[in-house]
Amino acid sequence: MDIEKLVKTANALVAPGKGILAADESGGTIKRRFDSINVESTEDNRRDYRELLFRTEGASEYISGIILFDETLRQNGADGTPLVKVLTGQGILPGIKVDKGTQSLPSAETELVTEGLDGLRDRLREYAELGAVFTKWRGVITIGHEIPSSYCIEANAHALARYAALSQEAGLVPIVEPEVLMDGNHSIERCLEVNEATLKEVYSQLAKQKVLLEGTLLKPSMVLSGSTASSRAGSEEVAEKTITCFSRSVPSAVPGIVFLSGGQSDQEATVNLNAINKRASLVGAPWQLSFSYGRGLQAAPLKAWGGEKANVTDAQQAFYHRAKLTSAARQGIYSPNME
Ligand code: 13P
Repeated sequence: MDIEKLVKTANALVAPGKGILAADESGGTIKRRFDSINVESTEDNRRDYRELLFRTEGASEYISGIILFDETLRQNGADGTPLVKVLTGQGILPGIKVDKGTQSLPSAETELVTEGLDGLRDRLREYAELGAVFTKWRGVITIGHEIPSSYCIEANAHALARYAALSQEAGLVPIVEPEVLMDGNHSIERCLEVNEATLKEVYSQLAKQKVLLEGTLLKPSMVLSGSTASSRAGSEEVAEKTITCFSRSVPSAVPGIVFLSGGQSDQEATVNLNAINKRASLVGAPWQLSFSYGRGLQAAPLKAWGGEKANVTDAQQAFYHRAKLTSAARQGIYSPNME
């Protein structure tokens, strides 16, 4: 295991002012995103859309790395340049989603477990050859009536640790993503309880499986009220409970926490990240607190693009602007009048 390289990459991904763009939507997810703008999800359209994001001038001022889907890692841009080269030319680190999505958990059918461990060692070797320097695996925890079960939390944490160990063996920094879904009418207290239990199990499994924490990043959900809760906590409370949760469960050896946006609007995800960073500097949190947003960074450029070549510049401006605001929030210096 090349410890020095892993630690260097992990720290570069959470360099001051910078964070990650998640552009690793699987086939079904990107189709849903394209449906929302009435664009057909063809291989060329997916390439054109992602290429416009990757070629945005100045993106690397705010974006350290981009997570790709398998198809994109192998794709060339319209002029024949491999998209991985487009990224490295911009000074952006290429990453790859390596899990194979969720399936129902046996004997617990309202819960999910992530698949993709079989053959992973060989796939990781190939991804490293194709130029990826970091990876992502997403486990999903659902909050509902009497769930999550400890069985679900343990099964997902075990798989996350198996993945992380294999990824480090291949020289690739694992981004460990135990997403606690925002769906439901649960309170923010319940979200804190579930996140805390999940993260404690994840770090127990990572330790058992000898994962080097300094060469990993955590991609969690913020601690939020459920999306359909009758009253929803404001950003101050989100920040306070999120930091409380992580101080109880995430070792300080982890260099960075990169939040997912998870169905928050782009502005909501920015406001909350800003409050989290303000709180973190008050209490002296040990990790970089940054972003790895999909929808939080892409909602505006996707809409501005609308599948039209003529809109590429507008879409790039929308992406650049959102990345700039999210970077400000990552430093605790965002204000709504910057919108
Ligand atoms: P969202 O920010 O849209 O939640 O996507 C991040 C991600 O990669 C989820 O796996």
